[in-house]
Amino acid sequence: MDIQSITNGSTVHKQVFLGHSSGSNENDAVAISYPATEVVGHGSFGVVFTTQINESGDRVAIKKVLQDRRFKNRELEIMKQLRHPQIVDLKYYFYETDPENEVYLNLILEFMPQSLYQRLRHYVTQRTNMPRIEIKLYTYQLVKCLNYLHTHAKVCHRDIKPQNLLVDPETFALKLCDFGSAKQLRPSEPNVSYICSRYYRAPELIFGATNYTVQIDIWSSGCVMAELILGQPMFPGESGIDQLVEIIKILGTPTKQEICSMNPNYMEHKFPQIRPIPLAKVFKREDEQTVQFLSDVLRYDPTERFNALQCLCSSYFDELRQADERDPQLAEAVQRLNLLDFSDQLDFDSLSLEESQTVKEKLQL
Ligand SMILES: Nc1ncnc2c1ncn2[C@@H]1O[C@H](COP(=O)(O)OP(=O)(O)OP(=O)(O)O)[C@@H](O)[C@H]1O
Ligand SMILES: [Mg+2]
Repeated sequence: MDIQSITNGSTVHKQVFLGHSSGSNENDAVAISYPATEVVGHGSFGVVFTTQINESGDRVAIKKVLQDRRFKNRELEIMKQLRHPQIVDLKYYFYETDPENEVYLNLILEFMPQSLYQRLRHYVTQRTNMPRIEIKLYTYQLVKCLNYLHTHAKVCHRDIKPQNLLVDPETFALKLCDFGSAKQLRPSEPNVSYICSRYYRAPELIFGATNYTVQIDIWSSGCVMAELILGQPMFPGESGIDQLVEIIKILGTPTKQEICSMNPNYMEHKFPQIRPIPLAKVFKREDEQTVQFLSDVLRYDPTERFNALQCLCSSYFDELRQADERDPQLAEAVQRLNLLDFSDQLDFDSLSLEESQTVKEKLQL
């Protein structure tokens, strides 16, 4: 639908700040205007509108959240720092005060056509599966983005789920959004365990750990990939603790060692002994590499769970690296999305020279 046709022609004029300022002029405002439009998303913290900036022609989403005057907005501070092709870009932001004197922060974000949740529903309602290659393209972009987020920006998203992954079904681009729960984790500081949406919560969070790491995002990503294959959540817990039951039903009872790695306070707890169901049985129609990848990611022990870089190097993604003229559509998608582009500064900056050589070999760069 043409944006103008649904706006009654009313134009909003705003003085806004740049999402990524270049140092000295951080608080320099610029003028933009856009037609007022409809709401596309209601979240727990605010509303999201979409519109088009008159000056640049860019399609954007505007996320409006109530701002507590006492604190800096963490979502804004984090988004200002992040720049990655697989992260929804913060273009501008501005504040507004309503008649009750409440302050609202507006984040003007790069627009994406739909969420991965909506994309999956499209297949489920048609009673078909999401094509395996589409799942692989999305999962690859997710772990590529997490490698940047975790190792370069040192940020944990803490709410990875299909609703917070935005996609363009025409290009298969995927971008992570909603940094409302994100945080820079420091090993010496405890963090609240009551984060992340239920089905996607890593077991260490269910065990109430406060010393968890960025590896919780990897668990959530494994749950998202599994859901894309199954067409429904892999661990659909009905409550916090039932979530653990759902996990145990498939992965079996965690060993003492695994419990210790999640939260040592539960070492003496007696759990009913449940034997694991091999993932090859849960994912009967998937090939060995897919099953292996999922079992590397859905591990109880966060230190044994693959990290984002190990995920990227998995042979599950070799199909993308080896795409050529035998599958021109895939080769074109890989190229268009720059999936094989890596930068030493953004993607491998936590590695020694030797390590980065090994990784590059695995990534076939
Ligand atoms: N850049 C964007 N382009 C298109 N749609 C967006 C964009 N950002 C958000 N949306 C839509 O709005 C919804 C809500 O946005 P977002 O997830 O950022 O906030 P939230 O849901 O309020 O936070 P929470 O997930 O913690 O409840 C998304 O699920 C998505 O459907
Ligand atoms: Mg959200």
